[in-house]
Amino acid sequence: MSMRGHVVTDLRDQLIDDMKRIFGRDGKRIEHALAVLDYAERIHSVEGGDSLIVKAAAILHDIGILEAERKYGSSAGKYQEMEGPPIAEDILKRYDISVEAIDHITRIIANHHSARDIDTIEFRIIWDADWLVNIPADFPDADDEKRYKIVNKVFKTREGYRIAKELFIKS
Ligand SMILES: [Fe+2]
Repeated sequence: MSMRGHVVTDLRDQLIDDMKRIFGRDGKRIEHALAVLDYAERIHSVEGGDSLIVKAAAILHDIGILEAERKYGSSAGKYQEMEGPPIAEDILKRYDISVEAIDHITRIIANHHSARDIDTIEFRIIWDADWLVNIPADFPDADDEKRYKIVNKVFKTREGYRIAKELFIKS
């Protein structure tokens, strides 16, 4: 593995620790972030993009959720999108990460429920990975037709769509 590979691997582990510290005993959130990271890495290996941005954004994408619940009594997407970026920035600033990369990661977090202001490949990967994890949880009773509609509507990368079809659409 290259030097840079090692650096990204170490940083990945450190960011996972930071995320776990913030989520504390909320095992469900920790599991969710790790599941999204797993899919994001799979999609990234096919679709490309910046490895650090993808990993950091996946690990930290929901990092504002507890603060949103504390402040507004709601984990609604818009509150998470407001509360997540400053928390992520505080974490990322402690490492040797460029200002541009931190900006990109926090913009992904600020848009991960709305897809309003960003459309980079790294964003699309996080978007798809989050949907892959959320579909079974958010639509437990969806029939085949409903799943088919969701899968055909939401995915933004070819590989995300491919995995979704494999998981959710019976052929
Ligand atoms: Fe998520």
